[in-house]
Amino acid sequence: MSNSLQDEIQKLKKEKNAIILAHNYQPKEIQEIADFLGDSLELCIKASEIDDKDLVIFCGVDFMAETAFILNPDKKIVIPTLEAECPMAHMLPEDVLLEAKKAHPDAGVILYVNSIAEAKQHADTLCTSANAVKVAKSIPHDTILFGPDKNLGNHVAEKLDKEIIPVPSDGHCYVHRLIHVEDVELKRQQYPNAEIICHPECDMQVQKACDEVMSTGGMLRHIAQSDKEEFVIGTEIDMITRINSEVPGKKLYPLLEGAICKTMKLHTLEKVRDALVNEAPEVSLPCEVADKSRKAVEHMLNASK
Ligand code: 13P
Ligand code: SF4
Repeated sequence: MSNSLQDEIQKLKKEKNAIILAHNYQPKEIQEIADFLGDSLELCIKASEIDDKDLVIFCGVDFMAETAFILNPDKKIVIPTLEAECPMAHMLPEDVLLEAKKAHPDAGVILYVNSIAEAKQHADTLCTSANAVKVAKSIPHDTILFGPDKNLGNHVAEKLDKEIIPVPSDGHCYVHRLIHVEDVELKRQQYPNAEIICHPECDMQVQKACDEVMSTGGMLRHIAQSDKEEFVIGTEIDMITRINSEVPGKKLYPLLEGAICKTMKLHTLEKVRDALVNEAPEVSLPCEVADKSRKAVEHMLNASK
């Protein structure tokens, strides 16, 4: 149901020839005004296709908006609040990656898209949780430096016969780390008929205890196509908002009610309205960093086709 602020945003969007992109973890009221909702990979692909818009409002965290900028250096990419950072992305500073590359000169380098642009520029390729295994298969190296998410790295290592070296040694998402194997056991007792799905950012013990492990976009598609009725969702809480609005008739339960990404919730309708009015705050990167990281982003997009 729309409110007057949402109506004002719709009007401004038309006047400014703007598009609103939003991640699946955005709160309901932002999901409702988005032109496109998706996981990190879907947002990257959408960002690579924006030809006819003058302004992009990105409701997600910093690395996502930066990736949109890398793919559209001539467009205005605006994030409603610059404070919306992903702490995991900042766990791999450029110098730590360069040290690891020096120590393993023959290894390939795959960075999770949840990384800062200064690190991305030194990667052979990037991945998201939706394509990590496919991307790791696509490069010729048998040894891979993988960061910053240790759990996604372990997920890849389980599926492929390649050596995965995590950089840094304990990069993780604080939201998914809140989920424990005891939560899985508890939900199995509470909802014996439900399928339990978690995100690969969860610890390996949790991944092994669940029935399926997939990206947020993967969860949406999987549930839409499934004959099953009940699901326990092991990721950020607003993923349930997205699935509920698009796949009616399913019973969805959170694996952990407290799995909330605080920085994703910093965007509000007021801030989106102000971002449209002021066309600020803008996301940008030094030309050289954007140019160098573009190669890794494009490699990932080609490898995921
Ligand atoms: P997805 O690409 O699966 O949406 O994951 C992004 C993310 O940040 C999960 O915490
Ligand atoms: Fe980053 Fe975790 Fe939030 Fe995803 S849920 S944006 S990995 S802090």
